[in-house]
Amino acid sequence: MKKTQLITTVLEYNSIEELDSVNQELINKAKEATQSSYSPYSNFSVGAAVLLENGEIIQGSNQENSAYPSGLCAERVAMFYANSKYPNVPVKSIAIACYNNGQFLERPIPPCGSCRQVLLETEERYHTPIQVFLYGQKQIFEIENIKQLLPLYFEKNMLDE
Ligand code: THU
Repeated sequence: MKKTQLITTVLEYNSIEELDSVNQELINKAKEATQSSYSPYSNFSVGAAVLLENGEIIQGSNQENSAYPSGLCAERVAMFYANSKYPNVPVKSIAIACYNNGQFLERPIPPCGSCRQVLLETEERYHTPIQVFLYGQKQIFEIENIKQLLPLYFEKNMLDE
């Protein structure tokens, strides 16, 4: 028997001012995107902003549906739109913010498992690490790539084994 530990490193900031201006702008775009959320069932507004290598920022928000599973998270709305609008442009980073009960959450909200899998596909597709910023009013997390968020991930070359 062999025991292996899979370690995830998270950088933590207490204020957005600790980040550089590019990352501050991306987080502000994610915060802005929460305002376009369609979430009448959960009242939980999530915004995502994706920065592409060409400098473009694509925003997305969660879109809910009366048939609940038909809705989609903000991260996947933003990432699928980025990939469909710019299929040849790698993604550099993504920021995520949540707004609930009239304010941004104090603590960061990490992406759900399905979103992590979709983000991983994009990371693999362009062979470029995607940096993640999870915004909270009192705490911001930075993660260096999606693999850190999804240990023991499933990927396309496993289909050939
Ligand atoms: N949601 C996201 O948009 N992103 C996440 O990573 C977690 C959850 C949305 C889905 C649903 O519209 C609402 O938040 C409550 O789960």
